[in-house]
Amino acid sequence: MDRLKDKIAVITGAASGIGLGTVELFVAEGAKVIAADVQDDKGKDLERRFNGQVKFVHCDVTKEEDIQATMQAAKDNFGGLDILFNNAGAGGAPNTIEDMTGEAWDRTMGLLLRSVALGMRYAIPFIKERDGGSIINTASVAALSAGMGPIAYSTAKAGVVHLTTVAAAQLGRSKIRVNAICPGFIRTEIFAAGMRAAGMNEQMATMVTKGMFEQQADAQPIPKPGLPEDIANMCLFFASDESKFVTGTHIQVDGGLTVGPRHSWDPEEQQRRMAMRAQAMQAKS
Ligand SMILES: NC(=O)c1ccc[n+]([C@@H]2O[C@H](COP(=O)([O-])OP(=O)(O)OC[C@H]3O[C@@H](n4cnc5c(N)ncnc54)[C@H](O)[C@@H]3O)[C@@H](O)[C@H]2O)c1
Repeated sequence: MDRLKDKIAVITGAASGIGLGTVELFVAEGAKVIAADVQDDKGKDLERRFNGQVKFVHCDVTKEEDIQATMQAAKDNFGGLDILFNNAGAGGAPNTIEDMTGEAWDRTMGLLLRSVALGMRYAIPFIKERDGGSIINTASVAALSAGMGPIAYSTAKAGVVHLTTVAAAQLGRSKIRVNAICPGFIRTEIFAAGMRAAGMNEQMATMVTKGMFEQQADAQPIPKPGLPEDIANMCLFFASDESKFVTGTHIQVDGGLTVGPRHSWDPEEQQRRMAMRAQAMQAKS
């Protein structure tokens, strides 16, 4: 219950999904949290729910001045900053490389990569004042292979992984650890929000995501749906002193989604492939 006792954290994208799950866990573990997001109503609800332990700050992470003000808010409201969880995000531009535009590319990088760099930039002076702390960046399994997200999103998340490594190298002597989490398929609003942004109506977006979530436990070797709490638990480890010798890493929290292709872990898929091969052999003979 006290793994984050006396710690002060900033969490971006705090109003929903992974960010929200992490606010809840950090508060339960004794932290005070600046919950940063663009969703004001949800953010204010959160502040009311955790009166005194959570302060909501309107922060659009694509705006440098908002990021700077958010870090300052940790100092002004709670007296300092120990932990930054750079987590806000969305699916970004759906374009392929063949129909990419400069605007779509820059928008996605601004939301997913520049925001993380600037988050660190403005958090560091406050974390140094506390003689060190922890920065956790949300990357994605899309950083690691093709087929997990649009190309701009995947490239931005790969950037987050490397940004994490290099920042960890630069900040170790200041006792600031920097690590990244690569979530797999996690049940959050991100999918419906992406569909709405692409023009799908509310009813259809709800129906499609419901279908996706019903199949979710079957998406990876571990047969359970990925939930925000699964990522929050890893974030808690990185945020707490238990990870005091861990920096510059990225870890998949994905139920094994990235261990290999489906036939490497799903016996039904192995049988299906065997049967197809046998059929093809029969047809030839
Ligand atoms: N859900 C998944 O399967 C999954 C997988 C891999 C990575 N991720 C990453 O996890 C992070 C959190 O996403 P989630 O799945 O919890 O989605 P979510 O939609 O539930 O939450 C994202 C939050 O970020 C906020 N946000 C979006 N744009 C913002 C901006 N410009 N400024 C400030 N806040 C902004 C949203 O308002 C929302 O509250 C994202 O970085 C996402 O890329 C999610």
